[in-house]
This record gives sequence, structure tokens and C-alpha cells, in this order.
Amino acid sequence: MKKVEAFIRHEKVEEVRDALSSIGIEGMSFTEIKGFGRQKGYTETYRGARVTIHLRPKVKVEAVVDDSAVDRVIAAIGESARTGDIGDGKIFVIPVEYAQRIRTGETGPEVL
Ligand SMILES: Nc1ncnc2c1ncn2[C@@H]1O[C@H](COP(=O)(O)OP(=O)(O)OP(=O)(O)O)[C@@H](O)[C@H]1O
Ligand SMILES: [Mg+2]
Repeated sequence: MKKVEAFIRHEKVEEVRDALSSIGIEGMSFTEIKGFGRQKGYTETYRGARVTIHLRPKVKVEAVVDDSAVDRVIAAIGESARTGDIGDGKIFVIPVEYAQRIRTGETGPEVL
């Protein structure tokens, strides 16, 4: 299992949710976060000696999925979250060691 974690624009939340749902992903989380990328929160590259970092609101999407679904999930997020402008966000893939559905006690990929 892998956790696909993506940082996306607020206005792309519904599109990303629908794209993941349409490829059969049945659980995911969305969290409002603040962060910055290489523009340090400015809309253009800032060349000052001292840079004040601006934290921009973004949304973190997390989906724990089967290894076999990772490529499809990356493609779905990459396409649905993209505008082509700076600040579109990033996708990370993280290994997941264990999963358990609390109600039933099931473990492993059947939890997904
Ligand atoms: N290395 C990172 N680790 C964790 N979060 C990150 C990382 N890079 C970016 N983020 C998160 O993703 C958000 C969007 O990043 P952003 O798309 O601006 O990246 P970028 O590298 O500057 O790319 P671009 O040039 O397209 O803007 C950031 O506000 C931050 O919340
Ligand atoms: Mg950026």
C-alpha cells in the first residue's frame, strides 16, 4: 500500500475528488493547510537578500491506495489539479506499512 499525498489549489478540490472517485478510489482525506513552494509564497520569483516567506493556503489530499493503483491516482490528480500556472502543487508517494478498519478489525489492502 502507498499513501499518495498531494498539495493542490482550493478551487481544484471538487475536480480532484471526482477524478479519484471515478477511478474507484473509495476513501480520501482533504485538509486545509498553509505552505509555500519555490516562489516562497510570492507570485513571482523574489530576489531580495532577505525573503519574508508568505504562507499560502492550499489543500492536502491524502489517499492510501493499493500499489497497483498508484499510477492511475497520480495521473488522475496530475490532470485534474493542473492549471499550468505556478502554484499548482505537488504529488508525493509514501509507503504505508499497516492499515486497519476499526469497525471490523480487517487489515491490509481489504481495508482500502
Ligand atoms: N517539498 C515540499 N514538501 C511539502 N510540501 C510542499 C513541498 N513543496 C511544495 N509543498 C506544498 O505545495 C504547495 C504548492 O507548491 P508549489 O506548487 O508552489 O510548488 P513549486 O515547487 O513552487 O512549483 P511551481 O513552480 O509550479 O509553483 C506549497 O504551498 C506547499 O504547501
Ligand atoms: Mg510555487
